[in-house]
Amino acid sequence: MELKFKVAVFALIISLLVISGCTNNSSQPDEEPDEEMDHSTMNQDMMENEHIDHDEVVSLNDSTGENELEIPSALERDDDVEAVYTVRAQKGKTEIFDGTETVTYGYNGSFLGPMLRLEEGETVKIRTINELDEETTFHWHGLEVSGDADGGPHESINPGEEGLIEFDVTQEASTLWFHPHPEGETSQQVYNGLAGLLYIEDDNSNSLGLPNEYGENDIPLIFQDKIFDDNKQLNFNAAMNEDGTIGDTLLINGTLNPKLTVNKEKVRLRLLNGSNARNYTFRLNTGDSFVQIATDGGFLNEPVTLDEITLTPSERAEILVDFSELDTENELALIDDDGAVLLPFEVSDQSGEDSSIPGEMNDFSITEEEMNLPVTKEVELFGMMDQVTINGKKFDPERIDFTQEQGETEVWEIYNKPDEMGGMIHPFHIHGAQFKILSRNGEEPPENEQGWKDSISVEPDETVKIAIQFKHKGVYMFHCHILEHEDNGMMGQVKVE
Ligand code: C2O
Ligand code: CU
Ligand code: CU
Repeated sequence: MELKFKVAVFALIISLLVISGCTNNSSQPDEEPDEEMDHSTMNQDMMENEHIDHDEVVSLNDSTGENELEIPSALERDDDVEAVYTVRAQKGKTEIFDGTETVTYGYNGSFLGPMLRLEEGETVKIRTINELDEETTFHWHGLEVSGDADGGPHESINPGEEGLIEFDVTQEASTLWFHPHPEGETSQQVYNGLAGLLYIEDDNSNSLGLPNEYGENDIPLIFQDKIFDDNKQLNFNAAMNEDGTIGDTLLINGTLNPKLTVNKEKVRLRLLNGSNARNYTFRLNTGDSFVQIATDGGFLNEPVTLDEITLTPSERAEILVDFSELDTENELALIDDDGAVLLPFEVSDQSGEDSSIPGEMNDFSITEEEMNLPVTKEVELFGMMDQVTINGKKFDPERIDFTQEQGETEVWEIYNKPDEMGGMIHPFHIHGAQFKILSRNGEEPPENEQGWKDSISVEPDETVKIAIQFKHKGVYMFHCHILEHEDNGMMGQVKVE
């Protein structure tokens, strides 16, 4: 009952914010709201005032580098013999700023979560316990599991209750993650800190000779931007923007002002855009290139040399930076395309391991047959703020939008339909499977997208064709991974049978 009351109050606050046109985009002039106005016939001026222009998002702070980057702990099994894990969603307090406690959510701790390392071929059990005072779910983003283990909005767990899932790991080495997915509440729960890492390793990843000492030369980097209020709290209701909450303060793995100390060796960085809405373009401040070795769902066939890489929300990439080659006389840092210093590196005198970059890492391919399959599912992404839709509709848990046969490959065409304002990038994600990008606007995708993906950026007016096959049965979500768009109903369901 208490929860229902909170939900009602929350909904009321949100609707008041919407009605008053109140957003955190404070540089825009206040405009008298017209309550009579139907959103679908909103005039252009009003849309301009409410809409976050994602080209002009608030910049991030520069990291001072005063704190060594936190590395999420590796979660131990409950059992020596079997792969059984327990994951608890909790509320707690975290000292993000020195001497101040911030109220946060976390898994098995107060903020973010541990890293679960699974091996291909093993049978895994995970006990999921909800110690929050609100409903949640445990979603395994990128994992190929049956619909009932996937943790979408239908697998809600009440406060104080627990669930148990069991699955076989049937996919190749990759960097996946987990986060909550309760209907309409995902953005708030992720923002408050619920997110963790799920690694899959296999014979290939264990034998390629890549840096693989967790926390030493194999480093997870979870990028999240936040807005802290005057009391250094994460006040989601105040920070929230219907078009995606964008913060000015970057946390990496929950660390404010992080730096990473590395040896003079090749270091593998597993980048995860765990933000509600911000896109990142990562570069080295020296202009040096790096190599990308993996996409969302596995290794690229060959390393791809890049000067920069863009990740939209929920996308991952693994990159290698060779600190034995870089000139470490000057400051080295990972920066974004605004030049903001995200992660300064401190390079020690130690030479570390002498690993080489393997030339061949995977055997990903797109077959002739897949190239020639007709489009059998069309997805049109449209809108902004709380007026976002997929194929003109908002999410309805009772409605199945598509059906697809288990084991059958189909081609989905995803189109981002622009509006009078031009529109915005929607990061599109499908649960329960890894897919292949066949084309972007009819062209071959860039080299670093020729690998397994579960999330893709779709630019305004862009059409992306993908080939997807589900190994398991169940009902799976597909949605925009701007979490506020997802909560606003930019989500549909595919039933695999
Ligand atoms: Cu990252 Cu529907 O999920
Ligand atoms: Cu997902
Ligand atoms: Cu969107």
